Amino acid sequence: MDRMLSGIKPTGRLTLGNYIGAISQFVKFQDQYELYIFIANQHAITVPIEAKELRQNTKDLIALYLASGLDPKKVTLFLQSDVSAHAKLGWIMTCMSYMGELQRMTQYKDKTAKGETGITAGLFTYPCLMAADILLYDAKYVPVGIDQKQHVELARNLAERFNHRYSDTFIVPEPVMTTVGQKIYSLQDPTKKMSKSETNPKGTIDLLDDPNLARKKIMSAVTDSLGVIQYDPENQPGLANLLTIQSVLAKEPIEAIVSRYQGKGYGELKKEIGQTVYDFLSDLQAKYRDIQDKKIVDQVLLEGAKKASLIADKKIAKVYRKVGFTITK
Ligand code: TYM
Repeated sequence: MDRMLSGIKPTGRLTLGNYIGAISQFVKFQDQYELYIFIANQHAITVPIEAKELRQNTKDLIALYLASGLDPKKVTLFLQSDVSAHAKLGWIMTCMSYMGELQRMTQYKDKTAKGETGITAGLFTYPCLMAADILLYDAKYVPVGIDQKQHVELARNLAERFNHRYSDTFIVPEPVMTTVGQKIYSLQDPTKKMSKSETNPKGTIDLLDDPNLARKKIMSAVTDSLGVIQYDPENQPGLANLLTIQSVLAKEPIEAIVSRYQGKGYGELKKEIGQTVYDFLSDLQAKYRDIQDKKIVDQVLLEGAKKASLIADKKIAKVYRKVGFTITK
């Protein structure tokens, strides 16, 4: 079985974008791959976050992984900071990266272009840590939303660079993206990504939103004045986004939804999508609450860290020998 790995940063409440672009893929792949899914808590401190909030986000994220259907019997679920090899290889990858290539990373570029102040050195170098996350496990595939593709490409370059400079050590990973839902957009500005850090709460559906509120957000989503139901992301980005959400959650092809709605209005379509989102969230949150009651999270993380460390420790020992940190061969 090929190995696959991915992670999510516990910086804020998880969105429907995270579910569609990432988590739903993980669930789908758990039967076909040897899957490693982690919580990227070391990435979460690249922007200031209170310890209390980070702790809560971390607990929510692991419970949401489980509630979404990730089965700890099939998937290794763990916390990044429990496996010390991530930080160790992260440093080596930082030293393998060039300033120029990190300056080209869009996330960093966007923040600097917006004139944001207080950008940490960690935010600048985090793609190096992300490369380490992937390369430590010899992951062949990395399921992500399109916004992370560039980072996986950096991991590929760093793997090749290391293999070339020392000798064959790392598998060169490939990003895997879903065909429908690589990027879910803000409900209020469908040219922008739906994001954990969005300032307008009406634009984002959080996985832990009250389902009634989520339904209202769908009903007030920005569309257009064309009044025709068709899938045209360029000219009708808001409608295309809603159709994508409905298609993924209701598991119905976009064309089938479009043909059911010929001659009908946006209001009717939004009503159906609102109901789909309502049902999806109600079901997910019931499972989430159940998992919290059973307190299984600690156990899952403990076992996950043990399994992940087994692989990661071996790999970092090999890397330490190759770079010359270990003085006995
Ligand atoms: P993060 O936490 O920002 O996002 C987690 C995953 O969700 C996807 N995603 C989306 N997909 C579709 N539409 C959206 N609106 C949307 N918003 C987010 C992201 O593409 C991602 O797949 N650096 C990573 C976490 C990470 C990681 C890794 C991922 C750290 N190490 C190693 C893979 C492998 C991040 O910040 O993702």
